[in-house]
Parts: sequence; C-alpha cells; structure tokens
Amino acid sequence: MLVDLHTHILPGVDDGAETIEQSLALLEAERQNGVEAVVFTPHFLPQNETPERFLKRRDEAFQFLLSRAPTDLKYLCGAEVLYSQYLANLEDLPKLCIGDTDYLLLELPYQAPFTDKLFSAIWRIVDEYAITPIIAHVERYAAVQKDPELLLQFKEMGCHIQVNASTMIRREMRQIAKRIVRTGTVDLLASDCHDTEFRAPNLKAGFEAAQKHFDTHFVHLMQYTAQTIFEDREWESWN
Ligand SMILES: [Fe+2]
Repeated sequence: MLVDLHTHILPGVDDGAETIEQSLALLEAERQNGVEAVVFTPHFLPQNETPERFLKRRDEAFQFLLSRAPTDLKYLCGAEVLYSQYLANLEDLPKLCIGDTDYLLLELPYQAPFTDKLFSAIWRIVDEYAITPIIAHVERYAAVQKDPELLLQFKEMGCHIQVNASTMIRREMRQIAKRIVRTGTVDLLASDCHDTEFRAPNLKAGFEAAQKHFDTHFVHLMQYTAQTIFEDREWESWN
C-alpha cells in the first residue's frame, strides 16, 4: 500500500488547497500516483493558534472533504507542527500526531542553526510524551545542507527522517539528495503537495527517481516505513 504521509490537501486550512474542488483534484492526482492512503498534515503554527482551535478547523475541513472524497482511498489526519522550543509545554501535543499513532510530523527552522537547545527541546517531546517525531523535508534546512551528518543526532533520538519527492526528481537537488541519503538516515518519502500545478502529488516520479539514483532496497524501506506508520504497526526489520 502506497502512503503519502505529508500533504496539504484539506480545503481552506493552510496554504494548500483552498476549495473542496482543489482538494478533490489533489486526491485524484494522488490516486493517479498509485497512492492508496493519504495523511492530511496542514501547518500548525504554535505561535499563532492553540492546538484546540487548530484541531477544530482541521476536523471540520476533514468532515467536509469526507462528504465528497473517494471512498476507495484511506485517510488519516495529522499536522505539520512548526518547531518551537516550548512545544513540549503544549499538553495537547499528542493530539497533533498522525491518527491515533505517536508519530508527529515536525518542521524545523529553515535558516537558523540547529542548537543544543533545539535538540534538547525535541528530546523532551520524545522522552515526556513518547512521541516519535518525523522530521519533515530535511533537505530544506540550511543546517542540514551544510552538514547532513546532523541527521544522525535525530536518528539517535528515534526520529524518522522525511525527504520530499521533488528532491529526488529535480536535477538541481540531486547533489543534496545524495549527500543526505548517504548518511543512511532517510526512511520516508512524501509529496508535501499543496496544489496540482507547482507542488503537485508526485510520489510515483519520486520513487522512480529514488530507484534510479539509489536502489530498490531504499525505495522498499521508505514505502514500508510509511505503511507501518499509517497502520500503526510495529516496525519489523527485514532483509
Ligand atoms: Fe508541508
């Protein structure tokens, strides 16, 4: 089962789909990519909104979309939570995880260095809430571009490492993709789709590019990891 774990498809919640028609077009594009399960992860900005208010908006948009969404795809709600050093103070943080799982999609600062303060704030989330952060599109952070080995520190805390499909596909991103994949930390690929034109569902091409430039085992690892998260199953290693 192909899972897209990071999407901005819910209508009118963030900078992704604005209308339900756009949401339905995105779901159709997901289907054409061979995707069978979609996680809706609208942006949650802790400095702007309480989790309670965000979840109300998200869940209303989800119900609205479900009234017209294809019934042969599977859906879960989550959030793309922007890092703040105070995240661990949010009692409702577990409610932002994907479905009923303990996996939280976490977006880090794009330009700022990754300080000890950041690592210890993320460790608090892991330790106090037993949450497993999924670090979103790691290739976009200046700190990671400068030193991909930093990803090992997230991995040691038990985090998952997600890369966007476009990074596998686009030629100008290939060098950074290779440097990041070489660390051996990447275990998830997702579309991070926002619309059907510029940031469209593209998992099929993303996996094809990953297969071409890396290997089949890596592709299977990423597909398997996304599926275990969606199904909230124990990860069993395989060879
Ligand atoms: Fe995103």
